[in-house]
Amino acid sequence: MKKSLTAIAAAALFATAAVGTAQAEDVLIGSCIYKFDDTFMTGVRNNMQKAAEAVGAEIELVDSQNRQPMQNDQVDTFITKGVNALIINPVDRSAAGPLADKAKAADVAIVYINREPDAKVLKGYDKAFYVGARAEESGTIGGQLIAEYFKGHPEADKNKDGKLQYILIKGEQGHQDATLRSEYCVKAMKDAGLDIVEIGSDNANWDKVQGHDKMKNFITSLGVESIEAVLCNNDDMALGVVEALKSEGYNLGTDGKDPSKFIPVVGVDATAPALQAISKGQLLGTSLNDAVNQGTAAVRIANQVAQGKPVDEASIGYTVTDGKYVWIPYVRVTAENYKDFQ
Ligand code: GAL
Ligand code: CA
Repeated sequence: MKKSLTAIAAAALFATAAVGTAQAEDVLIGSCIYKFDDTFMTGVRNNMQKAAEAVGAEIELVDSQNRQPMQNDQVDTFITKGVNALIINPVDRSAAGPLADKAKAADVAIVYINREPDAKVLKGYDKAFYVGARAEESGTIGGQLIAEYFKGHPEADKNKDGKLQYILIKGEQGHQDATLRSEYCVKAMKDAGLDIVEIGSDNANWDKVQGHDKMKNFITSLGVESIEAVLCNNDDMALGVVEALKSEGYNLGTDGKDPSKFIPVVGVDATAPALQAISKGQLLGTSLNDAVNQGTAAVRIANQVAQGKPVDEASIGYTVTDGKYVWIPYVRVTAENYKDFQ
């Protein structure tokens, strides 16, 4: 029996729909990073490259230079070029929606990383995913580290008022990691039973120089002697804070230096310089923001969807929550275990 015209048209349509998928050896992933000049995201980027090699996919990474309009254009270019999947680290996470629309129109997967889009964005497209870490965990770890230190070191209560006077150095405004880490580090200190007083708080946009400068301002206005702890939303800012303290003769390290001249500072990420500062006794601790597993999970998802294959624990090696999310846990890092992460 001859095929009807509609059946032929349907077959043709099916063939077009299948264009959205690629053979394993042909997968091309286009990835935009909010800015290359970011320590933690550089780690994620390098690990995505390794992960792509491991699965036999090609990945092209571009620098969005902290500009959302530039990122939007980069996504258009990737789609025109015919990428099979996108991995996007949004500059502005409220811009994730329009990017999902572009991906959906072209029938390519979109995996967001590090900056979490609104749940609606993921729900609106079956090929949209998010890989990240629960910022609450790293906030809690930071608060607990400070609480334990304060309880174990009576001299840390410099003004002997029974309260902890602390400074909070936050990341970028509007970033879920800045909001939640700040909230949960404070909560953890309270939950540990500390009587806490916030004597200063400011945003330093994940940046070491800004962290240093904001800390200098606090030292000038409050006096270094009145500061009993500094909680930072990431390591780069914490290392900037440590630099500012060092120029006051504090946190010079345990190597023959006066141990009483130490103000506990915590960060998040466990970058190489942070691990080194922990080893020297200049930084109290941090939490591992796992660039290896975040990068690997994102690439594996992109590679699966690009080939029209399922995304689940069996296929990617990570638990997939609600069919949409991969959450990589944070790990507490101190002088006791920093070597495990070097
Ligand atoms: C955070 C990380 C920061 C910075 C930021 C960029 O998760 O802790 O250091 O990389 O992401 O969005
Ligand atoms: Ca005090």
